[in-house]
Amino acid sequence: MTQDLIRQLFPARSPEAPDALTDADLLALYSAADRSVPRVRANFINSIDGSATAGGLSGRLGAPADKRVFDLQRQVCDVVLVGAGTVRAEGYGAMRLAPDAAAWRVANGFAEHPTFAIVSASLNLDPASGVFAQAPVRPIVLTVASAGASRRRALSEVADVIDCGETWVEPAQLLAALTARGLLQVHCEGGPSLLGSLVAVDVLDELSLTISPALEGGAGPRIVSSVGGTIDLQPMLLDHVLLAGSMLLTKYSRSAPR
Ligand SMILES: NC(=O)c1ccc[n+]([C@@H]2O[C@H](COP(=O)([O-])OP(=O)(O)OC[C@H]3O[C@@H](n4cnc5c(N)ncnc54)[C@H](OP(=O)(O)O)[C@@H]3O)[C@@H](O)[C@H]2O)c1
Repeated sequence: MTQDLIRQLFPARSPEAPDALTDADLLALYSAADRSVPRVRANFINSIDGSATAGGLSGRLGAPADKRVFDLQRQVCDVVLVGAGTVRAEGYGAMRLAPDAAAWRVANGFAEHPTFAIVSASLNLDPASGVFAQAPVRPIVLTVASAGASRRRALSEVADVIDCGETWVEPAQLLAALTARGLLQVHCEGGPSLLGSLVAVDVLDELSLTISPALEGGAGPRIVSSVGGTIDLQPMLLDHVLLAGSMLLTKYSRSAPR
């Protein structure tokens, strides 16, 4: 079996269905049932022993199949939400999708490219970087009222800078700001601190978690870093399990409405 051949283990497909999932099959598995209902999804990967990084980054945990699903999830959202720590660590560029993905989006009623929204209290982001300079859609920076004035001025030249709290970005204010812009399908690519903020106030609707078939063994972070608040154990429902080689791609949804 090749590494990027993806099969569906659960729920079982009909015996007549081909083994390998097509991009159309995967898009159906990751699309919202009703795009007019706001939804917050996160996509993460960790090792068998629960580390969200290997050598300080998530990239070495990944494989072509996981990258394929990562890209397809971008294709079915309105906004890609990422914490500034991940933008800095992973060297993010502009949020520009491949031409076929952009064409698919237009044909299916989405904007050509998703909006890139970055969460940062410090505003330690380079306005000259590709994230902003090459963006096909003006990015959004979700920050705090206490952020420094000169960094705010510089970033305001290249992005919409929105306050969503005094010293910490409050997820409720963040989501209200995105909803006000018609960005209802939120796709969060990390990192652990941002996911911790979302989980702490119980606004995560869906989690796509890939289990990379490797042991990391070190002191890497979990996919959720606690940022102070904590919720009671939140049960989630298993939507599907996919298999690519020895890699498992799972998706869970919240079991009770927000
Ligand atoms: N395994 C995976 O799927 C995965 C996914 C993504 C990232 N990662 C890894 O995670 C590591 C980064 O971890 P991280 O926890 O630092 O990532 P992060 O959550 O992306 O970044 C943390 C930073 O984001 C900003 N931030 C997040 N939540 C905030 C809030 N509620 N209010 C204000 N600012 C907020 C702050 O930025 P400022 O410092 O600018 O104020 C904070 O320092 C990297 O090694 C990356 O490779 C792994």
